Amino acid sequence: MLEQERNVGTQEEFAAHIRNGLCQGFGKKWINPKFFYDRTGSCLFDQICLQPEYYPTRIEIEILKRYSKDIISNLKCTSASMIEFGSGSSLKTGIILEQFFSQGIRVMYFPIDISNAALVSSVRRLSSEFKNLDIMGVSSEYLKGIRKICSFIDASSRTPKKKVMIFLGSSIGNFEPDKTRMFLKSIEQYMQTDTDDNLFISFDLEKDSHILELAYNDRAGITSKFNLNLLNRINNDLGGTFNVSNFTHYARYNKTNRRIEMFIVSRYDQKIHIRDLGQTISLKKNERIHTENSYKYSRQEINHLAKDSGLVVAKEYLDAKGWFDLVSLSKR
Ligand code: TRP
Repeated sequence: MLEQERNVGTQEEFAAHIRNGLCQGFGKKWINPKFFYDRTGSCLFDQICLQPEYYPTRIEIEILKRYSKDIISNLKCTSASMIEFGSGSSLKTGIILEQFFSQGIRVMYFPIDISNAALVSSVRRLSSEFKNLDIMGVSSEYLKGIRKICSFIDASSRTPKKKVMIFLGSSIGNFEPDKTRMFLKSIEQYMQTDTDDNLFISFDLEKDSHILELAYNDRAGITSKFNLNLLNRINNDLGGTFNVSNFTHYARYNKTNRRIEMFIVSRYDQKIHIRDLGQTISLKKNERIHTENSYKYSRQEINHLAKDSGLVVAKEYLDAKGWFDLVSLSKR
């Protein structure tokens, strides 16, 4: 079953955003990273996750394989609704779902993703892999999606009331700190103490900046393709005239703000006409378009973040090197 939010990634929304983001002056141009995930972008992202330099996926899978038995048995329930934010291709979800099944817990799975294409193929794959799994995919932004799912759970008598929410891939790092707090506070409102609802979030931890930078500059150049694909999307969806080879990918760790910053850099002074906006954008040589931040956290910061949002850290699951932290949060 699939629900599609009418507004997600519509042409109008994309056009309005590009008009606002690219018609800024020198050094202020930006594109919201949610627009990375068109069909090509979602496929490229899956490839990023396979690159040897991109440690988060590999380590997160290790953590899930090692601890999912413990995680699921600690839920202490006989049925649950599992809600996943940014499920993408749901590759890691399978590890968790398997545990629900082997521990005899009835589960209904609600993946939320902005990419309808990724959602359709993951729902299809999981339905054939897990024969008795109830799935309702919601193609939407996170908060709209959770609202819809929670009303569904409240209204339906045969849907498990206990909510297990998961947000993997350290995608929380792509939110600005204010947005992170707002997001956690909103989620907290949907958590109920009588059902002992759970929230699992993975955070990428601070580490040597060389390792961080390599993860966003893989040798095969997939992250570069992924970043520059935004320009293809503007060409395809809005009649833009970007020549992608006139731009480069740039990602570096900003130690002060403790985040990876990613940009598209113009190699020359150039003008780009975008038909559907009826506008021409001027870029200077070396001018940057900011496309993403990926914040890296310390365990202490995660604790503060939880407290500020009415949550507590119930347990942390780390890898041996202490690079990555899957955090179990409960309502206070
Ligand atoms: N949540 C991921 C991260 O920040 C997303 C990501 C990985 C990403 N590599 C990227 C996003 C490259 C944009 C470009 O690690």
